[in-house]
Amino acid sequence: MTADEFIPVNQPVLGGKEKEYLARCIDTGWISSEGPAVQEFEEKLADRVGRRYGIAVSNGSTALDLAVRALKLPEGSEVIMPSFTIISCAAAIVRAGLKPVLVDAEPRTWNMDVLQLESRLTAKTRAIMVVHIYGMPTDMDPVIAFADAHDLRIIEDAAEMHGQTYRGRACGSFGEVSAFSFYPNKHITTGEGGMVVTDGEEFAEICRSLRNLAHSPGRRFVHEELGFNYRLTNLQAALGLAQLERLDETVAKKRDMGRLYNKYFESMPEIQIAPEQMEYADNIYWVYGMVLDDSVPMDAEQMMKRLAQLNVGTRPFFWGMHEQPVFRKMGWYENERLPVTERIARRGFYVPSGLGITEAQQLRVVEAVKRALARPQ
Ligand SMILES: Cc1ncc(COP(=O)(O)O)c(C=O)c1O
Repeated sequence: MTADEFIPVNQPVLGGKEKEYLARCIDTGWISSEGPAVQEFEEKLADRVGRRYGIAVSNGSTALDLAVRALKLPEGSEVIMPSFTIISCAAAIVRAGLKPVLVDAEPRTWNMDVLQLESRLTAKTRAIMVVHIYGMPTDMDPVIAFADAHDLRIIEDAAEMHGQTYRGRACGSFGEVSAFSFYPNKHITTGEGGMVVTDGEEFAEICRSLRNLAHSPGRRFVHEELGFNYRLTNLQAALGLAQLERLDETVAKKRDMGRLYNKYFESMPEIQIAPEQMEYADNIYWVYGMVLDDSVPMDAEQMMKRLAQLNVGTRPFFWGMHEQPVFRKMGWYENERLPVTERIARRGFYVPSGLGITEAQQLRVVEAVKRALARPQ
């Protein structure tokens, strides 16, 4: 790469046994979801996060779909969730006939502000969907205490959290059902892919059935209900196995990447970065995000344009669920004001932070951020 070549926001690394495991699929002819790598991947990932069952699916969004459906909550029930997240979370709730009730973000970590849970409780609340954002887990103790006090179920979106722990316990072990994604920017990637993990045998059965068209146990091609084809292929699972073997190394590398950026960015008053450490976890820097200070006379969109001109790839932060046109059209959240989410959605973005990034590239990103901030308006 030349000195000023474009730095993409993510570069995956497939540097372990990926080729060997893929070759095995090709040599044996096992390429579909029926192949042995799928079950092996399910068992090994579930084991890694201390769960009894893993159900591999086509992506993180479909994992959330199944996770929500597995709980069989009564139609019209409310599920409390963060507004600052990806649409997949709210979509899974809505598609299951439930209503997402939104909580604002907490300004330091950008996770759901757990102090606001109480204010969202109604007679219809049945569950909380916890979503860990960008590398730092949600503060789970208050969530668990609140759920226990009000008899609420917990669904956990650990899509971004491979290898992360909360007070020493694996993320992905906190929900009755939890979901992972294996998109290429994740710490484990299968190209596209996802997994539901759970300890509940019945939940696992529901997810397995719905993932594969809900064939009746007694007779294939007879259906008591409508399922989906959300299956993961053996080829994808083979990649996942190779990636899982290197998870600790990956997390260590991402932490090094985060620390190097921190060295430069933490002293810059123009930007806010995520904490490296909370009392309950060390950041794993799924992505390296930053929020422009109010003193900066431009928003994230302008900043990202400037960085693109300097050959640095970026992505904007999530856009709050309460501001989504699709939900406004449904007449939802019209008067909802969630100021932290609204602010970070407009002033937040993330810089190149994939596993393949080099130190030299990181230093170029730092310089580019400084230049973009210093340029006259
Ligand atoms: C928090 C969160 N949940 C769910 C998803 C959806 O995963 P996928 O892209 O695999 O559908 C993502 C994707 O990045 C995510 O960040």
